[in-house]
Amino acid sequence: MSRIVYVNGAWPPEAEATISVFDRGFLFADAVYEVTSVLDGRLVDFEGHMRRLHRSLRELAIPAPVDDEAMLAIHRELVVRNDLREGLIYLQVTRGAADRDFVWPADPTPSLVLFTQAKPLADTAAGRDGIRVLTIPDIRWQRRDIKTVQLLAPSMGKMAARKAGKDDAWLVEDGFVTEGTSSNAYIVTRDGAVVTRNLSNAVLHGITRAAVLRLAAEAQLRVEERPFTVQEATAAAEAFITAASAFVTPVVEIDAHPVGHGTPGPVTRRLREIYLVEARRSAI
Ligand code: PDD
Repeated sequence: MSRIVYVNGAWPPEAEATISVFDRGFLFADAVYEVTSVLDGRLVDFEGHMRRLHRSLRELAIPAPVDDEAMLAIHRELVVRNDLREGLIYLQVTRGAADRDFVWPADPTPSLVLFTQAKPLADTAAGRDGIRVLTIPDIRWQRRDIKTVQLLAPSMGKMAARKAGKDDAWLVEDGFVTEGTSSNAYIVTRDGAVVTRNLSNAVLHGITRAAVLRLAAEAQLRVEERPFTVQEATAAAEAFITAASAFVTPVVEIDAHPVGHGTPGPVTRRLREIYLVEARRSAI
């Protein structure tokens, strides 16, 4: 079935959607994006994604193409037009089209593109059984807090993982795990603390991360926001990742070392469950 997508105010079928060859998203990866999950036809954490979108836009001085009310209406219309019950909405804002020049155009007209991806999110093999990750050097730039579309490094990371027969990769800098290729990374220590990298320019400020840490604290779990090493991770009781596309997904193996018993641990399973209940409850 062909999707209806959104491009700069129009609703074409996917095969008829076009963007200029001079679009700076295409030429310079001069663009930011968001991925919002949809459960039961409703948007999970929409406000959080809009807050981060505005932050990314501000950091790159790209004007917002439409206000948040219009953005919500576009998301909802996309859900309806594509009859999306469960899956993802991808949103991209670029600095728009201009003759190729490294210097930003003075008065840009941003481009706005959105499309849907229908896929199961709540009931998945990865969510149930966990994933195996490979650790690799984090070769990305130093503003990972801005959600830009320059995704070649994480893409290469996922290919390296696949080549090694693993499901995904964790990125490592100066011995410490920064995050997953498209997720935030966590361990649960043997004394029960949930540990994830503190927020800085080194990692993306995950929207799922914020929700999961809040829910973990509400569930009386100890939360530590600090860097952890690969060694600490392989010796941990549990490990997991979070992302809009993965919710809470267990990590059961790191570089061929089983994490804990090599199966999803109780804290991770509980957080996944709590997160799913809350995501469904608060979706709009
Ligand atoms: N990626 N870190 C990185 C590098 C990411 O790309 C993502 C999300 C996250 C998790 O953020 P959030 O919880 O807000 O989804 C962390 C999206 C899903 C993607 O690129 O498809």
